Amino acid sequence: AGPAVKTLSEASLQAQVEGFFARALADVAGEAKVMVAPADPRFGDYQCNNAMGLFKQSKKEGGKEGWKSPRDVGEAIKAALPAEASELFEEVNVAPQGFITVKLSPQWLHKQVAELFDHGLQLRSSMSQRIVIDYSSPNIAKEMHVGHLRSTILGDTMANLFEDLGHEVVRLNHVGDWGTQFGMLLEYMRREEALDGEASSMVVSDLQKFYRSAKEAFDEDDEFRKKAQTNVVELQSGADWARAAWNRICEASRKEFDTVYGRLQIRGLQERGESFYNKMLPGVVEELQEKGLVTESDGALCVFTNVSETPLIVQKADGGFGYDSTDCAAVQHRINEENANRVIYVIDNGQELHMRMVFSAAEQAGWLSGGARLDFMGFGLVQGQDGKKFKTRSGEVVRLRDLLDEAADRSEVELRKRAENANIVLDEDKERKLKQNAESIGMAAVKYFDLRQNRNSDYRFSYDSMLDPKGNTAVYVLYAYARIAGVLRRADFEIGTLSTTDLELTEAPERALALRLLRLPEVIAQVEDDLFPSRLVDHMYGLATDFSSFYTECPVVGSEQQKSRLILCEVVRRQLAYCLGLLRIEPFEQL
Ligand code: ARG
Repeated sequence: AGPAVKTLSEASLQAQVEGFFARALADVAGEAKVMVAPADPRFGDYQCNNAMGLFKQSKKEGGKEGWKSPRDVGEAIKAALPAEASELFEEVNVAPQGFITVKLSPQWLHKQVAELFDHGLQLRSSMSQRIVIDYSSPNIAKEMHVGHLRSTILGDTMANLFEDLGHEVVRLNHVGDWGTQFGMLLEYMRREEALDGEASSMVVSDLQKFYRSAKEAFDEDDEFRKKAQTNVVELQSGADWARAAWNRICEASRKEFDTVYGRLQIRGLQERGESFYNKMLPGVVEELQEKGLVTESDGALCVFTNVSETPLIVQKADGGFGYDSTDCAAVQHRINEENANRVIYVIDNGQELHMRMVFSAAEQAGWLSGGARLDFMGFGLVQGQDGKKFKTRSGEVVRLRDLLDEAADRSEVELRKRAENANIVLDEDKERKLKQNAESIGMAAVKYFDLRQNRNSDYRFSYDSMLDPKGNTAVYVLYAYARIAGVLRRADFEIGTLSTTDLELTEAPERALALRLLRLPEVIAQVEDDLFPSRLVDHMYGLATDFSSFYTECPVVGSEQQKSRLILCEVVRRQLAYCLGLLRIEPFEQL
């Protein structure tokens, strides 16, 4: 039999607890929005926070219920809990301020863990949707920077999660491959006699230098500038020479991007750059005009929104189209042609206003009437160790290739130290393996460190922190996983011979670990809704640290409870592998 398939709401522990309180609250107070949250573990597992508010409201309305304190309300809610709740709750306590804390029953926890072991768990979203995610989106002819790294990691993790939950996901790379900068790049290529052939490959091979040199010429030379402008027109109207040169630049950039994607295990990301929408722009502007949303201002066509005083410029005074126009066309296309139920934009917070204006325009244009949901999944800056802009010593943008190299190199240094301390002689084979592991751990460390941050915060990039084996890092979780795998190996048994009749959760660390395991679905349900994948990383880290406390206090191999504890180890191992898999991090059975 395959794994047990459950929807998030069926599997979510918090949702079940909420369900009971919802019924009690309906009884006690008619309609009430249930407020249930995980509790401070000293007092219980979950708590319901409705009593205080209900008490205040009742007093305002004349106190016909006769409640004398919030505690009375809490007691009333407790008394109204449906009978089946006792299967889940071992204890229900009401605090003087009315908070109701519940403690889950050991029998119930036991049953759930047994089910996880016997049947596994395949989580499904409660409603399957078609979801477009716009992420990574670097710019042609420029280096990808740490902002694009963040977008790539955040967006990809969400895409993996959504796909796993049964959504249809379209991963779109909205590459900046259009715009006036190409005029200058083409002109520079012409000047260097490098429009095609060998020469062109040479010129575009070092993109950073290529862009900088072109920009210099553009800034210094009027003649050059004029020609650059004509080039833009030629490119937009599809002149062969311009198209060909543009293609060369795109190819070179793509090669660069793909190296980064390959190392980070980013798969299935479709390039659909700004140029893709080019043909649609006049039509979209026309549609917006017909709907009466366009105002002319200084010759430019603008759409005003309630988001900001500055408008979206859907067509510039010179007749050209820009970033705003393209995003209007893109949102329309995603909703109407891609039939997305939800579109998620993973972009730095600096562009939030821009995106919110586009969302507002989409709403005004009636494109959301079918119920599509638009999300801005913003994120903060990546800073250097000094809290300032992240750059190289010479003040340039850090190339992602170099950044990933450094993470891998540092991870290699650590692995060598470990090998040396363990007196391991590195033969050719071990040497090769060590290098491979260093690369995987380095990439995992970069991803994990980014994802663990609240995405709205700025964070300081630090190789030391991200590779710290004792911190909240991929390294820590990978070692925890390898440790569990090691325990399971040492115990030398067949998984099939274990039976959940042997399972017992008597010690506090065992109970804590069991509860943590059962919380995954509610964490995922929240991430699906609010798009904060740091919750998933927190969960993974919590699982690893709970395992570590369990392992310190509860001997496994050779103990009387060996069978029971091996079951716990196995369920934890599977869940860690699942979470790491969502980040596309491959765990090691041995490290
Ligand atoms: N290329 C842009 C940048 O590097 C990001 C594009 C984000 N997506 C979008 N639909 N605007 O800043």
